[in-house]
Parts: sequence; C-alpha cells; structure tokens
Amino acid sequence: MIVVGNWKMFRGPDPAALAGLGAIVCPPYVRLAECVDAGLVTYAQNVHWENEGAYTGEISPVMLRDLAVTGSLVGHSERRRYFGETDETVGLRARAALAAGLRVIACVGETIEERRGGRTEHVLRRQLSVLEPNDDLVLAYEPVWAIGTGHTATPETAQAAHAFIKSILDAPVIYGGSVNPDNAESLLSQPDVDGALVGGASLDVDSFTAICRTAARIRS
Ligand code: PGA
Repeated sequence: MIVVGNWKMFRGPDPAALAGLGAIVCPPYVRLAECVDAGLVTYAQNVHWENEGAYTGEISPVMLRDLAVTGSLVGHSERRRYFGETDETVGLRARAALAAGLRVIACVGETIEERRGGRTEHVLRRQLSVLEPNDDLVLAYEPVWAIGTGHTATPETAQAAHAFIKSILDAPVIYGGSVNPDNAESLLSQPDVDGALVGGASLDVDSFTAICRTAARIRS
C-alpha cells in the first residue's frame, strides 16, 4: 500500500512528525532537502525532461538526484489545468525522470464534463498513451472533480477506473481526490486500489497519520 502526501504550494508539516509512517511526501521544492534529511521518502511535485538548460523555473532530474530525492509526481491535474501541461510533456517528464533513476507517480483523471459526457475511458486511454510500463512507475487515478472538493469518488467508481487503467498499463494505481481518515478504509479496501495520493489531509499530521495507519492495517 502506497500512501503519498502532496503538500502542493503549502509549507506543510514538520517532517520529523512523519518519521516512521512509511509514507512518501511531496513537499514544495524548497523543503525537499529538509524532508530527505529527516529520513522521509521524498518526491518532487514536478520534474523537467532536460538535465540542464535555459528553462527558467524548472528543476531537472539530475538536480533532484543530487538532493537524494527518490522520485517525482508528473501530470498532476493542477499542472495540466493551470500551467499548460499536456499529455506530450507528461510523457517527456516521466521518461526522463525514469531514465535518470527517479521513481515516477504519473497522475491521470477525467474532468466532470468528461465523465458526464461518457468520455472517462477515452480520456484515461489518451493520458496513458504517453507512458510505458516500468518497475519504477506508479499511476495515480485522480478524478479532477474529486480533488480538493470533498466529493470523493465512491469506492465502486474508483475500483472501476483503476481496473480499467490496469487493463491498459500494468502498474500499481493509487487513488487521489479528497481522501481523508473517514473514507480511506473503504477506498483502500478495493482490490485494485493500491494506495492513496492525499492533498489537503496530508497537511494535518493527525489526519495523515490516521490514513497511513489505515493503509498499513489493510495491507497486513
Ligand atoms: P485532495 O488533493 O486530497 O486535497 O483532494 C489530492 C491531490 O491533488 O493530489
């Protein structure tokens, strides 16, 4: 069971308070070194595809490796929605990060319009088309309508999407979108839900700890 805390552009909790949880944390870049030093498995929230160059505001895979960062998210829906991330650039980021020895969590998921229009599977298939199976690749199913909204996917909806994703690309699939201590158990109990990508609830040590404990209980 893989539990990931995505702190987004928040300062986030004291890393020392998360020691021993066995979770992955994705802090803002400026706190990566602090989290690594605290012994946490630390991922960046994004990564560029070149090792260096004139790409203002970007961070490269080798720079993350130099910090002893373990991996990176790619393709989060907030990157796609606000910063022009495309399937093509998600593929470039994922390939370069994996080639550099980083692990990757690639995020996919449909908007509410796409779901209502019956296009969920089409969208997931398109988003997955830029990715290839890799031992260091994990997928995150994050329906955009469930992120930060409190409208979690039902366990059945998540399970169906996860099974569909695995039918296309053989990789662990974790669920993201309003996961909290109250809904974690029902989501994580689904056979094809291999973990959780937690945003808001990862900023609170007690909530995140509760989710990690639930995950550990379900796995054992
Ligand atoms: P949320 O965010 O848990 O606050 O919905 C999840 C994510 O964006 O990864």
